[in-house]
Amino acid sequence: MEKNKHKLVIIVGSVRDGRFGPVVASWVAEQAGMHGGFEVDVVDLAGIDIPLELPAASPKSAGDDYPRPAGMAALTSALQDADAFIVVTPEYNHSYPASLKAAIDWHFTQWTAKPVGFVSYGGAAGGRHAVLHLENVLTELHAVTIRDGLAFPNYFTAWQDGQPLDPQAPGYTKTMLDQLAWWAVALRAARDAAPYPA
Ligand SMILES: Cc1cc2nc3c(=O)[nH]c(=O)nc-3n(C[C@H](O)[C@H](O)[C@H](O)COP(=O)(O)O)c2cc1C
Repeated sequence: MEKNKHKLVIIVGSVRDGRFGPVVASWVAEQAGMHGGFEVDVVDLAGIDIPLELPAASPKSAGDDYPRPAGMAALTSALQDADAFIVVTPEYNHSYPASLKAAIDWHFTQWTAKPVGFVSYGGAAGGRHAVLHLENVLTELHAVTIRDGLAFPNYFTAWQDGQPLDPQAPGYTKTMLDQLAWWAVALRAARDAAPYPA
């Protein structure tokens, strides 16, 4: 691990059979690696035990004692250690997948005072409805959502061989990564200086 780099966790939000999400996430991870400002980790929600039945208490107050399944431990520690996130999400029925909502709801403090960027894909709207909902939800968890992100409308014609065809996509990604890096540095320093008053 490189000491001075902030940790960026890229979350693959869809877990559907035959999903496209990993193609997008892997390209974003490559761009983030080239950016140079982060230590990059891709967390794929597929294969992680994320039950829909939550414990009685809220994760907000339970802290480290929250009774999560053993099969969720790697996800929890990746979220805990992250300084920044990129959520890669498709659009399902004008929102984001239930897998992503479940992963979000099992955690609370792991999101607090950390920046989140979005890369979405879908039909005509490019997953923007999903991102609008995610912005709303993550604000409730005291995360800081980043304005600039990427949306890929009609992703089925917009990608070839694991790459987006839009020549502007790497530039948009760099802008998002620059903003994420700025917030990651600022918020890490702030979290280290004083507990967030949530
Ligand atoms: C349950 C479901 C609902 C969907 N609803 C929408 C939608 O509202 N808007 C849209 O643009 N695409 C929608 N789609 C199409 C998805 O954008 C497309 O299937 C995409 O590949 C899903 O991402 P994934 O392959 O990573 O699961 C939907 C797909 C599914 C499976």
